[in-house]
Amino acid sequence: MKTKLTLLGGLSIEEFLRDYWQKQPLLIRQAVPGFKGLLDPQQLIELSCLEDAQARLVKQTRGKWQLAHGPFDADEMAKLRGKWTVLVQGVNHVLPEAAELLKRFSFIPHARLDDLMVSYAPQGGGVGPHFDAYDVFLLQGLGHRRWQISTQEDRSLIPDAPLRILQRFDVGQEWVLEAGDMLYLPPQCGHNGIAEDDCMTYSIGFRTPAYQELAEQFLVYLQDRIRVEGMYADPDLKIQKHPSEIGAEMLQQVAQAIRKIQWDDEDIANFLGSYLSEPKPHIFFDAPTKPVSAERFAQALQTRGIALDLKTQMLCHDSTVFINGDAHRVGKGSYRALRELADTRTLKAGSKLTGETVALLYELYRDGYLEASGGDA
Ligand code: SIN
Ligand code: CO
Repeated sequence: MKTKLTLLGGLSIEEFLRDYWQKQPLLIRQAVPGFKGLLDPQQLIELSCLEDAQARLVKQTRGKWQLAHGPFDADEMAKLRGKWTVLVQGVNHVLPEAAELLKRFSFIPHARLDDLMVSYAPQGGGVGPHFDAYDVFLLQGLGHRRWQISTQEDRSLIPDAPLRILQRFDVGQEWVLEAGDMLYLPPQCGHNGIAEDDCMTYSIGFRTPAYQELAEQFLVYLQDRIRVEGMYADPDLKIQKHPSEIGAEMLQQVAQAIRKIQWDDEDIANFLGSYLSEPKPHIFFDAPTKPVSAERFAQALQTRGIALDLKTQMLCHDSTVFINGDAHRVGKGSYRALRELADTRTLKAGSKLTGETVALLYELYRDGYLEASGGDA
């Protein structure tokens, strides 16, 4: 029998994936029993004021929507009145408890994970009716949020609004969520969340990249890797009536050369691993200022184990591990241990590791990609 999960309202992962994932919304009362939230409104506002915060502030004044991007000023935030909401992305990159919360959702591949966004709104606040290009689990923390969803086909947005808000919103179903309740929404499902009181919502988002974006980025990836031999030659050049015209011979010759550009599934896998593990542009890593020696690091690895830095993104495919956008091809034995690290974000003390793995981990440690506790002096 498949394990039924409280997180999924008593469904097994298989049942959830079969019947709901990417198909229809699911409301789960008490998905995380006892969940009270991971931080209070003031702590979230403080995060939104940090220099590298990826934060947004949405205000509604007399029916008009306003959007501002962080980092914000703490004094200005304290003066806010009326209907507003602050949303902070990437809370899992700064809060270990948030990274732990995400681990509950490991039944979805890491390659699909975006991040944990946390919002706070006083009564009446929200970001308006909209739809996202994401699968999202909306977990309620502090207070209550009224969630309305719609099955409408009409996706027209309010013109010239600073954020994407549906012009028309036909409420299909609605529920009030309290701490520990969770709503799963597939991409493109219209939704509107209104704070009933002081309200904090935890959004666990899974990206669904558009093929256009992937194709453009694949071409960027390819441009550094292609090799096309030879150069243009026209020893049999004929006089052209119109020298400004691109001749048929030239066209054919270049078309033939361009057609030689080839790629295979391995190129696609390498591109996906590098692209999807690439940190967002505002993310920086703190390399240790006084790194310990390789020997000392190897000892600490054996006695204490290691964990990925909260900001590190790691994916794997067929003897290659991808860490924060870089690909490392490794031997079989190393791959097994590194995949364990990518799956669980930790390697236990006493793990059997190859010399190659220890050397790579030391390199990652020096780049600031591992938690400092795993070997810092
Ligand atoms: C919110 O937390 O206020 C908004 C989440 C969403 O609608 O995606
Ligand atoms: Co949304």
